[in-house]
Amino acid sequence: MARRLRSNRRTATNVRPTSRSLTSPSNYSGQHGERFVNELKALLRFPSVSAQPQHKGDVLACAEWLQGHFQAIGLDAQLHATKGHPILLAKGPSARNAPTVVIYGHYDVQPPEPFDLWRTPPFDPVIRDGKLFARGASDNKGQFFAHVKAVESYLKTNTPLPVNVIFLIEGEEEVGSDNLTAFVRQRANRLRADYVIISDTGMFAKNVPTVTYGTRGIAALEIRVDGPSRDLHSGVFGGSVANPALVLAKLLAQCVRDDGRVSVPGFYDDVKPLEQWERRQFGRLKFDDKAYARFLGVSKLAGEAGYTTLERRWGRPTFEINGIFGGYQGPGGKTIVPAWAGAKITCRLVPNQEPEKIARIVAEHLRKFCPKSVRLTITGGHGAPPFLESPDGHGARAAAVALKKAFGCEPVFIREGGSLPILGDFKRHLRGEIILAGLGLPDDNWHSPNEKMELNNFHRGIAMSIELLRQLALSA
Ligand code: BES
Ligand code: MN
Repeated sequence: MARRLRSNRRTATNVRPTSRSLTSPSNYSGQHGERFVNELKALLRFPSVSAQPQHKGDVLACAEWLQGHFQAIGLDAQLHATKGHPILLAKGPSARNAPTVVIYGHYDVQPPEPFDLWRTPPFDPVIRDGKLFARGASDNKGQFFAHVKAVESYLKTNTPLPVNVIFLIEGEEEVGSDNLTAFVRQRANRLRADYVIISDTGMFAKNVPTVTYGTRGIAALEIRVDGPSRDLHSGVFGGSVANPALVLAKLLAQCVRDDGRVSVPGFYDDVKPLEQWERRQFGRLKFDDKAYARFLGVSKLAGEAGYTTLERRWGRPTFEINGIFGGYQGPGGKTIVPAWAGAKITCRLVPNQEPEKIARIVAEHLRKFCPKSVRLTITGGHGAPPFLESPDGHGARAAAVALKKAFGCEPVFIREGGSLPILGDFKRHLRGEIILAGLGLPDDNWHSPNEKMELNNFHRGIAMSIELLRQLALSA
């Protein structure tokens, strides 16, 4: 009997498609939570590793799956081919006289290696203890998918979307967003937005909802030191030629002083100092250096003298070696002077440093110290400008309201150390306020083995997004 009544009601709404809600978006998202997680798992099964050419087909398949998914929800979704991986645009129905909101995310993921450190395979998502494990679970598929499910919750309940929504989901974030820049520039008019919502950052801690108002930039370089035309017997020839690996080590050591300051002349020239209010605000956050050191597996922290750990991570620039290679790497010994050695370097940048300038002065510094006995080759890599937004714009305040409602406690405002390369172009071409409302956690293992997303954050993220869209429609 009850069953008949229910199905009757459904028929009744079906014949009156213009009728208002079947239920509220929040109720809908609560009822369909389990299906949402299964769909996220399907998305995570694509090994969409943008950096690795052998995954080009998987990246495309992932984009196509997403396009189909957006269409099924009721958005107008298109894939745009680029020189690299495709960009996905999906538009919601237009909400007249309402603000336009671009929701940005990336469906590409970092390489999963080293495989042997994963407890379960990276592209075979599994739930353990309320956590969904897979490469990309938190960075970034699980995070942007929360917004997709929020929009679905409006559309499938016939609740008018309070804002004009455009999803912009790219496949090259983890390799520097090179092709997105031109795309955004070409379409500046059509993509003009009042707000850009991005969940591709972290929460300060578990159950501490977070608005991020700054990210660091990046300047990447690859350097190679060439010596003899082949590997040489280190006994027969050693001592008579420069050892490229040793030259490289000395060159790199020239770049950072013992007190943690970068020694490249001019490196700090454009650095915007941390404001007093920020240093006070960072200082009030509950953060323990000892616990942090333990979490990272080190006995002692290190960094630029005169700054706290959070200041070093969020507000100060760095010089890092990401990889260093050359010479014999196999088991046992091999007594050689290697023919060459190389390193991959990235500097993290803060306002108002410019990636091109930093890459140039670091290269000049290396060249100046390089002895004539080797050949030095330096190639530039990706760059991204630092980003800083006012923490008291209408968007930031709307995000705080939405986060508070979803997580049940007051959010904190922070900066972060990672980079979102496209933010500078968004600011320039889309013009709206950028809202960074991250759902990741510090132990989500981004770019590491055993990446995970907490399902609780996924579901609360959906609730946050439902509320945020509503809040943004309220006038500033
Ligand atoms: N989601 C991260 C960026 C991020 C991480 C922002 C932590 C804030 C806090 C993003 O996917 C990422 O890792 N970006 C790269 C960009 C690089 C390859 C140009 C990064 O920061 O290393
Ligand atoms: Mn990311």
